[in-house]
Amino acid sequence: MRNVHRRHRAARRALGLVALPFLAATGAAPAAAERPQNCLAPGADCTLAEAAHQSGIFVGAAVGNELPDLEIAGVLAHFNAMTTENAFKWGSLSSQEGVYDFGAADRLVDFARRNQLRLRAHTLVWHRDGFLGTPQYVRDAVAKAEDPAARLRELMRQHIETVVARYRGRVDLYDVVNEPLSLFTSGFDTEPAFGFAANVFFETLGVEYIDLAFRWTHAVDPRAKLFLNEIVWDPHLGDPKADAFLALASELVARGVPIDGVGIQTHGQLSLTSPFFPSDSESFAEYMRAFAALGLRLEITELDVPLPLLAGASDPLAAQAEVYRRVVRACATASNCSAVTTWNVHDGRTWLDFVWPTSILAPNEPLLLDASLRPKPAYFATRDALLERCEPPSELPGPTRVAWTLLRRLGAACSRAYPRPFPPPWRP
Ligand code: G3I
Repeated sequence: MRNVHRRHRAARRALGLVALPFLAATGAAPAAAERPQNCLAPGADCTLAEAAHQSGIFVGAAVGNELPDLEIAGVLAHFNAMTTENAFKWGSLSSQEGVYDFGAADRLVDFARRNQLRLRAHTLVWHRDGFLGTPQYVRDAVAKAEDPAARLRELMRQHIETVVARYRGRVDLYDVVNEPLSLFTSGFDTEPAFGFAANVFFETLGVEYIDLAFRWTHAVDPRAKLFLNEIVWDPHLGDPKADAFLALASELVARGVPIDGVGIQTHGQLSLTSPFFPSDSESFAEYMRAFAALGLRLEITELDVPLPLLAGASDPLAAQAEVYRRVVRACATASNCSAVTTWNVHDGRTWLDFVWPTSILAPNEPLLLDASLRPKPAYFATRDALLERCEPPSELPGPTRVAWTLLRRLGAACSRAYPRPFPPPWRP
């Protein structure tokens, strides 16, 4: 059996070699070395980053303050984007009004720029205290202020202007506001819930706190893409929290708030089925397209799939791969979905192993690379799902579908989710 595969692979490579001069003559094929391989060419065996580049869907990972994950040789080859896991959180940057420690954030920004990784800074305003979201000095100052609203606006504006001015032109996207809604319902946290404090921004300023955060961020760095990031457990039209988040985004757009997109976190920590996880690709893609109608991009921002939740499957790693395929396929079939980011880089360092109750199930092994940085079945399923973006749209007539398919096999890019050159020039 192995020999058959080897002969087929040799044949595919031979075909690829024969086609290569022709492809090169058309300018469609990559000349060696300076461009990523064409993932759709016969015999291609792309990395995730190469599939990301060709599909136009960025693939990233959340990187902790200490950074070593991505500095490990070879890991960088798998991603063309990254998210700061904790370094840009208000509680990480400052524990006293006007006093900041930018050390960790500086290291991550420098690393992303040096390696041409699209950089998402997570997150400027997050009401969850005790989770690095909002430092205690902010709550204390608001509680004792004669005019709490004026004081909170002052603190928010000082914070946003201090951080965004420091990194102007070097951060590609901000999660300007994270998790504005309640954890499991469609409203705002107006009182403590599930161990989380009430939303001091909503309580003091109303929903317009979101408008202010976006407007102040845009005023300092108009080039950065600005996102609203949320946990939408079951992202489909008709789900109460999903509908509430869509309505919130629609209101922001209607008020002229400078918002470019939304992030759907897609953590699988509670369950991998409805109502705590996308149940199928099409209903998720339909939900994504609802944001396209508002002119917004959508990104999957914090994807992880705990393996212990699949322990009942005959092959848990294969089952995990199919869960990743289900989610990434939704992104590939919704043209406004522009990135998939896993929450952390590899199984050796996942937040799920440190936070109750998922720490009970550790090792959770939720990511695309194992603890030894080897690609898992989920890695290849994700890569192949990204390339479904290259399939001809179903509405194309026959001859056009053939031309579309041929052009992509010749190396034509599969989407213009971003106008070139927003994706950084290809890293060698
Ligand atoms: O760095 C300190 C360390 O010095 C100290 O000894 C230790 C014990 O107190 O705490 C360490 O900081 C912890 C930090 O993670 C780094 O490990 C914080 O206490 C802990 O709260 C923080 O947890 C982070 C959590 O957000 C809360 O901010 C997780 O790493 C991070 O993965 C998680 O990410 C969130 C997203 O921001 C929003 N969406 C949900 C996602 C998962 O909860």
